[in-house]
Amino acid sequence: MNTILVTGGAGFIGSNFILYMLDNTDGTTLVNLDKLTYAGNLANLRAAEQNPRHVFVQGDICDAALLAQLFGQYQFDAVVNFAAESHVDRSIENPGIFAQTNVQGTLALLAAARAAWEGPDGAYKPGAKFLQVSTDEVYGSLGPAGYFTEQTPLAPRSPYSASKAAADLFVAAWADTYGMPVNITRCSNNYGPYQFPEKLIPLMIHNACNNIELPVYGDGLNVRDWLYVEDHCRAIHLVLQGGRPGEVYNIGGHNERTNIDIVKTVIRLVGEMANPAASDALIRYVTDRKGHDRRYAIDPAKIDAELSWHPAVSFDEGIVRTVRWYLDNAEWLQSVTSGAYREYYNKMYNNR
Ligand code: NAD
Ligand code: TYD
Repeated sequence: MNTILVTGGAGFIGSNFILYMLDNTDGTTLVNLDKLTYAGNLANLRAAEQNPRHVFVQGDICDAALLAQLFGQYQFDAVVNFAAESHVDRSIENPGIFAQTNVQGTLALLAAARAAWEGPDGAYKPGAKFLQVSTDEVYGSLGPAGYFTEQTPLAPRSPYSASKAAADLFVAAWADTYGMPVNITRCSNNYGPYQFPEKLIPLMIHNACNNIELPVYGDGLNVRDWLYVEDHCRAIHLVLQGGRPGEVYNIGGHNERTNIDIVKTVIRLVGEMANPAASDALIRYVTDRKGHDRRYAIDPAKIDAELSWHPAVSFDEGIVRTVRWYLDNAEWLQSVTSGAYREYYNKMYNNR
C-alpha cells in the first residue's frame, strides 16, 4: 500500500502513467495534481473516473499552501513530477511560463517534499522518493554520430530545455544538499494515445486524415529517437521501485527516425487505414524552428543493466497502434481540436 503524488497527470504521459499504474499495481493510490492548462484533459482519464485509487485535484504545483495541505492529508510515499509546459515552439514564443512552471514549480514541490519527509535527525521517511521526469533535450543537440549518456554534459538550447535543465539541477541539489532520495529520468520523444495534437505525430495524423497540409520544419532531416509511451511508463515504474537514490536514468527507444520519414509513414498509414486521399502531395516544407536541435539519440544501457528495462514496442508497431488509436478515438481528437474538451472539465470540476 502506498500513495504517490503524480503531477501533470491529465497530460499526455501523466495520464498514460496513471492508467498504467492502476492496471499494474494493486495497492497504490495516485493523487493527481494538475492545473488543467490547455494541455490537461480529464477525458484522458475517463477509464479511471470510478476508480477509488485515483484522486484528482485541480491545482498548481507552484502553490506552496496547497502542496503543504496535500502532503499533510495524504502522507505521500513518492512524487512523480510530470507537470510542465512541454512544447518547444510555445517556449520560443512565451518563455516566462516555462520558467514559472518548470523551474519554480519543481522548487515548490521539492520544498514541500522535504518539509514532509525529512525528520529532525536529517533522515528521510523510509522508502520516500522524488522522481523528476526530464528530457534528453537537456543534453542539447547531437551531430550525425554518438549518443546521450548520463555523463553527457547539460547543454540545453531552447527555452523549454533550459527550464528542464534548471529544474534537474535543483533536484540534484536537493539530493546533494539536503540528502533527499531523488531520481531524474531523461527520456526521448514519446508518442502514443492522448498526445496533444500540437506535437509532430498527432498533428500529422490529424492533418493527413483531414487533407490539411503537413508542415515540415526546415529540410525534414532532423532526427528524434521515438519512445512508445507505455514503454516509458514501465520504465518510470521500475525507477520508482529500484532506481538507486541520486541517480539519473536515460530512457530511449532505439528508434531514430528523420522527421520526413515519420511524416511519410503517417501519410501512408492514414492512406491505408482511413483516407485514401492522403498523399505526399500534402507535405509542405516550412520555415525552420529557431535554434532547431538537429538530432537526439539516447544510450539506454544504464537502465537496461540496472533495471532490465528495454523498449518492448518497436517504432513500426507503435506507429501503427498510434494511428489506429487516433482513428478509433476521432471524437477525442475532435473535442481537442475544437476546444470542447475544456467544457467537459468545466462541467465536471468547476460547476458543482
Ligand atoms: P503535456 O503538455 O501533455 O502535459 C503537461 C501536464 O501538466 C498537463 O496536464 C498540464 O495541465 C499540467 N500542468 C502544466 N502546468 C502545471 C502547473 N503549474 N501545475 C500543475 N499542472 C500543470 O506534457 P507531456 O508530454 O505529458 O510531458 C510530461 C513530462 O514529460 C514533462 O515534464 C515533459 O517535460 C516530459 N517529457 C515529455 C516528452 C514528450 O515527448 N512528450 C519527452 C521528454 C520529457
Ligand atoms: P515536437 O513534437 O514538437 O517535439 P520536440 O521538439 O520536443 O522534439 O517535434 C518533433 C520534431 O518534429 C522536431 O524536430 C520539430 C519537428 N516538427 C515539424 O517538422 N513540424 C511540426 O509541425 C512540428 C510540431 C514539429
